[in-house]
Amino acid sequence: MLPLFSFVLFSYRRRTMSRPWTYVTQREAQKIDEELFSDYQYSVDQLMELAGLGVASAVLKCYPRDDLPSRNVLVCCGPGNNGGDGLVAARHLKLFGYNSSVYYPKRSEKQLFKNLVVQCENFRIDFVNDLPENPDEINRNFDLVIDSLFGFGFKGDARPPFSAALDTLKRVKIPICSVDVPSGWDIEAGDEEGLKPDSLVSIASPKLCARSFRGRYHYLAARSIPPEIKSKYGLNLPQYPGSEQCVKLE
Ligand SMILES: *[C@@H]1O[C@H](CO)[C@@H](O)[C@H](O)[C@H]1NC(C)=O
Repeated sequence: MLPLFSFVLFSYRRRTMSRPWTYVTQREAQKIDEELFSDYQYSVDQLMELAGLGVASAVLKCYPRDDLPSRNVLVCCGPGNNGGDGLVAARHLKLFGYNSSVYYPKRSEKQLFKNLVVQCENFRIDFVNDLPENPDEINRNFDLVIDSLFGFGFKGDARPPFSAALDTLKRVKIPICSVDVPSGWDIEAGDEEGLKPDSLVSIASPKLCARSFRGRYHYLAARSIPPEIKSKYGLNLPQYPGSEQCVKLE
């Protein structure tokens, strides 16, 4: 009886005590993702487009274009789907009037990713081959960094060149906006010593580590969760206002 009771109490706490909305575990995030593809017949492209558009929309709210001296945004993309979200965000940011540049050192061989790169190139987005080791160089050339290196599937330690990139990003002074999770953090426990983003855009649902987020802005984006998944996983998430692509988590 006791273990079951503690589990129920724990779930209840996780869902309702600190904040009114739900945080999901890594396993829950993976299962929801799988179900969106299998039971709900979403394609990766669709979810990536919603995520990237949502991130760009949240950036527009947190860092209005006209508040940025240069409007130069550096989008750092990892090897997986989180990096794909970044490539989509870079394109929408360009459409919103920012000058996005992309750092994408380990390019996926999948056609979808190749297509996203071609789209960026056709929107005249610069690809930077190396991330400067000196954070001052990033501070000087950009107003904002989008961190889409690793997403909710991340476990263990970052490998080169991402380990070095994370070390650099930890030392930059300009704001960092993390996509879904701050890269390098444990998806549930967070990371006291890790990246300290100024903003976090949770994709579809906030992951447990978002409880340790101490930056200024936390948004939810990617309007993709069907009502049945909401009730099955007991997700309590805010309503998106009207046709907005993101909603602030107060
Ligand atoms: C856009 O950003 C790149 C990389 O920082 C820079 O070289 C370029 O001059 C910028 N373009 C504009 C129009 O500001």
